Amino acid sequence: MKPSRNLILVLCTTLVLGFLYYSSERISSQGWSHKSLYDKQGFLLKLDCKLPLELIIKYNNLSEGACKPGYAAAKMAAIHPKFTKLVPMFLDPNYKRFSRIDNFPPPFGVKSQERIIDVLLSEMKNYGLGEELDSMSCKTCVIVGNGGILTSKSLGSKIDQFDVVVRLNQAPVKGFEKDVGSKTTLRITYPEGAIQKTEHYESESLFVLSAFKAQDFKWLQHMVFNKRLISTDGFWKSVAQHVPREPSEMRILNPYFIQEAAFQLIGLPYNKGQMGNGNIPTLGAVAITMALHNCDEVAVAGFGYNLSTPHAPLHYYEKTKMSAIKESWTHNISKEKKFLMKLVKAGVVQDLTGGICGAVC
Ligand SMILES: *[C@@H]1O[C@H](CO)[C@@H](O)[C@H](O)[C@H]1NC(C)=O
Ligand SMILES: *[C@@H]1O[C@H](CO)[C@@H](O)[C@H](O)[C@H]1NC(C)=O
Ligand SMILES: *[C@@H]1O[C@H](CO)[C@@H](O)[C@H](O)[C@H]1NC(C)=O
Repeated sequence: MKPSRNLILVLCTTLVLGFLYYSSERISSQGWSHKSLYDKQGFLLKLDCKLPLELIIKYNNLSEGACKPGYAAAKMAAIHPKFTKLVPMFLDPNYKRFSRIDNFPPPFGVKSQERIIDVLLSEMKNYGLGEELDSMSCKTCVIVGNGGILTSKSLGSKIDQFDVVVRLNQAPVKGFEKDVGSKTTLRITYPEGAIQKTEHYESESLFVLSAFKAQDFKWLQHMVFNKRLISTDGFWKSVAQHVPREPSEMRILNPYFIQEAAFQLIGLPYNKGQMGNGNIPTLGAVAITMALHNCDEVAVAGFGYNLSTPHAPLHYYEKTKMSAIKESWTHNISKEKKFLMKLVKAGVVQDLTGGICGAVC
């Protein structure tokens, strides 16, 4: 009797161990391994718009259309687990504590620019969005791209309802209010993209530099201290000579957003952390990355070039046609589009003009 009972015991143990071994193999080779659930950039492969249960409960009580606290960041973390929300929008005097930008030169960080940045920040003395916006417990943001797709959609009043309206480079407002709105909270630009005619600036907005090279900080120094630029060396086209803003209305965009967009979210070549062929995200993608960290809800408008309509206008404010678009050595538009499509498909970002996915998502 006894030996057989022992035999059964041994057999059972072997079976249980065998089963555990087998199932752990299965789990690591299929289910839980990152390889099979996530793409190279760390995004969930199967994207859908479903809200995680804890968010359904959290937002259950909100009235229709009310701003949902933490929505964009929570949805982003649900499809991209490495995402962590807290990254300040602008550089402030404590920027050296934010170590992720220390070891990268522009555009991905602040390496060897610390001295000029310190000078700029001490003159600016302001590092937030302003009292009213900074104190809001829930902020909605819209990034207005410059695409011709904005034309004749009369989205202006909808755009103006957002708490924060972000415009890029020289995108004009005057004369286009019906389609693009009249409110500008932030205008994010690099020197070559800045409005050159001072009368074309809106009356109020924060002027935000997104620096892509060391020269851009020098340019900002001239704008902040209101000095004429003697030399325009180092720029790829002519740059503004004067920005009609007080130093207290100027900001420096945190370069971490360029780094994160390039290497983590879009997956551009790392190139030892240096600027190189095809590894610079567009300003639009950088602004969206900023918004994911700093806005509770994020919408975009005027994004997406549709190359199957070559005669459609490229930008909403000029006659240049879509066919004029050139392969750029700096950007990788097709990779970037894949990133933006993930955000729209998963409902992290709402696309007001529908140009990012077209009929695809
Ligand atoms: C939902 O609203 C009800 C009534 O306004 C309130 O009593 C309740 O505490 C709220 N629940 C949550 C989770 O906020
Ligand atoms: C963009 O990325 C794709 C895929 O990695 C690559 O094949 C292509 O050459 C890149 N284009 C540019 C302009 O760098
Ligand atoms: C591009 O335009 C064509 C023709 O109007 C349309 O069928 C297609 O859905 C558009 N694609 C996108 C991505 O908007």
